[in-house]
Amino acid sequence: MPIGNVAQVLRLVRSNIRGLKPYVGGAQIISYAEWAKLNQNESPYPPPPSVRAVGNKFNEPGFLNRYPPGDHKELKGRLAAHLGLAPEQITFGNGSDEVLQNVALVFLDKGDKLAYMKPDYSMWPVYEQLTGASPRIIDLPDDYTLPVDRVSAERPKLVFFSNPHTPSGTLTPIDDVRRLCEELFPNIIVEDEAYADFAEGNSLKLLEDCPNLIVTKTFSKAFALAGMRLGYGLGHPSVISQIDAIRLPYNINAATYAVGLAALEPESIEYYDGMIRLIKSERNRLRGSLENVGFSVRPSHANFVLAKTESPEMAEMLYHGLAKNNILVRYFSDERLVDCIRITVGTPEENDHLIAEIGELLG
Ligand SMILES: Cc1ncc(COP(=O)(O)O)c(C=O)c1O
Repeated sequence: MPIGNVAQVLRLVRSNIRGLKPYVGGAQIISYAEWAKLNQNESPYPPPPSVRAVGNKFNEPGFLNRYPPGDHKELKGRLAAHLGLAPEQITFGNGSDEVLQNVALVFLDKGDKLAYMKPDYSMWPVYEQLTGASPRIIDLPDDYTLPVDRVSAERPKLVFFSNPHTPSGTLTPIDDVRRLCEELFPNIIVEDEAYADFAEGNSLKLLEDCPNLIVTKTFSKAFALAGMRLGYGLGHPSVISQIDAIRLPYNINAATYAVGLAALEPESIEYYDGMIRLIKSERNRLRGSLENVGFSVRPSHANFVLAKTESPEMAEMLYHGLAKNNILVRYFSDERLVDCIRITVGTPEENDHLIAEIGELLG
């Protein structure tokens, strides 16, 4: 005899979790040899050989059966040296997604005012629902830059925004970020810099003056390590220690930890710099080719471009037509983006293939 009905159990779920819509990412594929996967802003290139060699460590005594370092001391030290910050200014997460979630859990109580932009990263509503915060959703202007005055006017306890912005690739200037930190002080500014390694600037130097600024970054994009899940948050040491206090024990696994250390070796950084240069030059070439077929493409400071086509029907046709030809791009149903496709910058061959197929589909 069942001891009761599952509906009785589900009634115990917190009310803000009951309606939570989980994150839906871009489609995933099985054979990378057969597909051009240009839908999730990953690197089309593998990380350097020294990083891949970490795989051999699985055979070292204790590597798999012992817990990894829990205080992240060596990794913090190496990253701090790379960024020119102090180790105490860094917290690591299982992807920057975990850091962003930890930030939400540290600062947002039920009913607290949370501001985020639309369109922007699709996890913001998830953190809103997870915490029960009260959302202030701000429509971005047509140029997708951060509307500082409108955000300030809402007086949110915390604001999330991506910079470079996703999915447009637009960069909000550092002076605007600083003004937002000043106007909202002491409330919290969370700047998601997942793509900033592809931009000409970032907001790290604001950390000196703005204890209410938290910047998140990732190894998933420019470091070609999306599969390893390693991200980090940067801020004032006292704020970071609050975030670190709620980290799960050993949240960075042994393989990811070792890969992170290898990725920060000087010769890896040199390799990544070359890869970033190549992706940036392909980004410009891709933008030009997409404009040549009649799309409007905003200048991008990330590893993707947002192409505005003639109509929602054309965007949808291209999405499905490209998928039939083994090319995945991102198509959004959001009303501001229905006539757009977002394309991750691929290898030169993938980009050529994409442009040729778009030419065919447009007849
Ligand atoms: C704007 C933005 N922020 C954060 C993330 C999450 O990155 P991570 O792989 O570090 O969790 C992504 C992933 O695509 C993203 O697009």
